[in-house]
Amino acid sequence: MFSIHGLLRAENMEMGRDADTGGQIKYVVELCRALSKHEKVRRIDLFTRLIDDKSVSDDYAQITEEINSKFRIMRIQCGGKKYMRKELLWPHLDEYIDNMTKFIKKEGIIPDIVHGHYADAGYVASQLSEFFGIPFLFTGHSLGRTKKQKLLDNGYNDAEIVKKYKIDQRIDVEEDILKASDLIITSTKQEMEHQYGMYECGGLPAFRVIPPGLDLEIFYPYYHDTLSDTNREEEQIFAQASVLEELNRFFLQTDKPIVLALCRPDKKKNISGLIRAYGEDKELQSMANLAVFAGIRKDISDKEENEKKVLTEMLLLIDKYDLYGKMAIPKKHNFEYEVPELYRIAAEKRGVFVNVAFTEPFGLTLIEASAVGLPIVATDDGGPRDIIKNCVCGILVNPVKTDEVSNAIKKIISNPNLWKKFSKNGIMKVRKNYTWESHVKTYLKEVFSIKKSPRAKDISMAKPTDPIGKRIIDLNYFLITDIDNTLIGQNNEQLNHLLTLLKKNRDKIGFCVATGRTVESAVRHMKEYNINHSLDMIISSVGTEIYYGKSLQFSRSWRTHISRQWDRNKLKELLDTLNFLEYQEEETQREFKISFYMEPAKDRVAAIHELLIKNKCRYNLVYSHNQFLDILPCRASKGKAIRFFSYKWEIPLGNFLVCGDSGNDEEMLRGGPLAVVVGNHSPEIDKLRGRKNIYFADAACAGGIVEALKHYNFIN
Ligand code: GLC
Ligand code: MG
Repeated sequence: MFSIHGLLRAENMEMGRDADTGGQIKYVVELCRALSKHEKVRRIDLFTRLIDDKSVSDDYAQITEEINSKFRIMRIQCGGKKYMRKELLWPHLDEYIDNMTKFIKKEGIIPDIVHGHYADAGYVASQLSEFFGIPFLFTGHSLGRTKKQKLLDNGYNDAEIVKKYKIDQRIDVEEDILKASDLIITSTKQEMEHQYGMYECGGLPAFRVIPPGLDLEIFYPYYHDTLSDTNREEEQIFAQASVLEELNRFFLQTDKPIVLALCRPDKKKNISGLIRAYGEDKELQSMANLAVFAGIRKDISDKEENEKKVLTEMLLLIDKYDLYGKMAIPKKHNFEYEVPELYRIAAEKRGVFVNVAFTEPFGLTLIEASAVGLPIVATDDGGPRDIIKNCVCGILVNPVKTDEVSNAIKKIISNPNLWKKFSKNGIMKVRKNYTWESHVKTYLKEVFSIKKSPRAKDISMAKPTDPIGKRIIDLNYFLITDIDNTLIGQNNEQLNHLLTLLKKNRDKIGFCVATGRTVESAVRHMKEYNINHSLDMIISSVGTEIYYGKSLQFSRSWRTHISRQWDRNKLKELLDTLNFLEYQEEETQREFKISFYMEPAKDRVAAIHELLIKNKCRYNLVYSHNQFLDILPCRASKGKAIRFFSYKWEIPLGNFLVCGDSGNDEEMLRGGPLAVVVGNHSPEIDKLRGRKNIYFADAACAGGIVEALKHYNFIN
């Protein structure tokens, strides 16, 4: 399970401390806890980011937090140790993936399934899923396109949104995540249709609506006295008394049923619609009191503009309909203890809970109210529709029709049998549909069906059957060879012999190439020589790109790593001024490789260095075969790519056999790996003779490689 941003710990969650530490954290921890209680779940690891920062609790610097024998929270580092907001994490996620890969290798256990929460963790989980060939679940919690729309509606401009929220990057990543996921879990049908519907591939992945669970320890039925947890008993009795006292300040007749509303003072919540419905209906006023809990406030004039508007309108309506003595608008309540008490008090007084927001995608308060046995009247929209269908615990209404609202309330209050039916259904059915246990039951059913038959809607996107991550973890030895004049050239018989040897030892030795060619050209060329059994890695374009496995999975972390201090345009502009350089063919030019033909002449290489250094450029220059000039990022080369591979997968360099023939192989042959220079090598590489672990073979090309396998006893 992955949930990377925010402050995540299992106890004493700091809900609402900042924008990144909210509902998602609670959701994920509760989901994991519930999963860990299920007998079919062997183990749950919840991965978040390690934060070692004086400004936050040192709980977040703990690498492991054991929750129970099957569930632990693991903290993995990326982008340093300082706490940072989620929008700033993007450039560091590839580091997170690398550290995760190492973790998996060290533990020696590949997870059976990965589940990412929010786009950042979704990205990490989807990459791991591809690497290890395991199913990937995704829960968005919120999505970039929806957020962007909201911000635009609120008058932000495009540039601001992109800068502050990195929203376009998030949306791009989300598109990829949706394509890669085996299953997307949403809390409501509306979320699935409207939010995911905004994505290009919104219709493609499989979806399952599984509402989150409710904490039933807290939302127990109104007719039970107190919590089972005696530690909380005292707090609770106190809360009960304080809620009643607060309400009674407002009401002339305290024994009447209560029509209860509880929501943020947000225009969308349509509080004024409810007050109007009540204010216009004298009959309803004589039957029941109205209590509206609209957030906590000290001084309305200090509130934000939109909240101020809503709260002021509330006061004006009370005055207009003269609801003094009948309507309560308490200024504060304590969430943890008083909210459940509120529902219970309203239920004891045979009241109704009302939520007539203009739209309601989920409606958690409706589920809470139903759980304690308080019937509901709610907007005929996404969330409430699901709830009423599942629980039959109230009535759906059109929120802008005030008489429809008041009639529904009256119908329930005036009919004790109906009230009882709704109340009982709520208590029973919430326990069936909206608990973490029921969530986990559905969740696991889905997971097991994915494991049996992975998503097959689009064959090209099916998970590889021989996932490269699993293979690399199992392998400890790799043959890494240059292509032209090393693997291929001169002797086809020896090449076939080598390929047979590699095939026979496929479960012991990995097979990789490192070449100046582009990946497309390398694959094409090798096919011509019947090298079609799958390569484990292709390092192409002189080490600027790395691809893994049969599916040629592109290494984004290598890309991120080498992109530092690379300014392609500036380099090109400068090099354009040198008249002895001639550009190579267009297809050889890559994002991180600028290539020229250059006749050898005295001082030319030195002149290039001088020009580029004078202009403060960072780069790596490779001149080979007396004709090819490659300008690469300072962090890129074939040798550096091999070292990156060794580091990322924790395979010692000494377990590699590296093969080459010319000057541009020199760097990857030196220092560390076992190396072989084939018999047909160019003279420029003769200077490596006599070095430790560099074997000069007699035979040419593949024959030389076979010779080296024997020389180093590599196969045994
Ligand atoms: C390959 C590439 C070329 C590069 C040369 C040397 O021939 O196609 O672009 O310059 O290798 O690295
Ligand atoms: Mg070569």
